[in-house]
Amino acid sequence: MYIKTKRLLIRKFELKDLQAVYEYTSDIRVMKYIPEGVFTEEAAKEFINQNMGDKAEKFPVILKDENILIGHIFFAQYFGEHTYEIGWVFNPNYYNKGYASEAAKAMLEFGFEKMKFHRIIATCQPENIPSYRVMEKIGMRREGYFKKCIPNGQEWWDEYYYAILAEEWNSATSRIK
Ligand SMILES: CC(C)(COP(=O)(O)OP(=O)(O)OC[C@H]1O[C@@H](n2cnc3c(N)ncnc32)[C@H](O)[C@@H]1OP(=O)(O)O)[C@@H](O)C(=O)NCCC(=O)NCCS
Repeated sequence: MYIKTKRLLIRKFELKDLQAVYEYTSDIRVMKYIPEGVFTEEAAKEFINQNMGDKAEKFPVILKDENILIGHIFFAQYFGEHTYEIGWVFNPNYYNKGYASEAAKAMLEFGFEKMKFHRIIATCQPENIPSYRVMEKIGMRREGYFKKCIPNGQEWWDEYYYAILAEEWNSATSRIK
């Protein structure tokens, strides 16, 4: 994985990424809706180790000019070989500048245009407005609203389910690029 956009670089994780990853994954505001919850430094190290090789599912997003790691994109097989799931976790110091949308759009372009995937999905809790705004900004449609489907301690979370098909990407690329 080595994808460049106007402002960003998406690559494989390296050992040197630990402190930057630990900084935001240890923040409860960031990890509130992430199933694993906040990371210890040990968990951040394991996360990087698991995502350095060929089986990587998470990819760091780097500010190209400044060489700063600002978050990561999740991109993994979902149903079969041609359906993928995408997700995003970023450092709050860099929110609302369009970085997650820019990175996610580049992953859709890679998935549909290079890998010839059929469908890419994403999910989030309805309270997580920034996350579903990213989904909508990159051209995904809301397909489902699952009520109380995810156990979270003593309560249940609802979940929005979004998707985009290859044919939708192809017909919309001029609009959302
Ligand atoms: C979701 C996340 C990756 C978005 O990162 P980001 O780089 O700020 O995203 P972008 O700047 O590309 O887009 C965010 C959009 O949400 C909008 N937004 C943010 N907070 C908002 C709010 N409270 N109400 C309405 N819109 C809001 C922004 O205005 C922006 O939309 P716009 O460009 O139309 O103005 C980031 O918030 C994050 O890491 N959250 C914690 C981890 C997480 O929950 N991940 C998703 C799990 S499903």
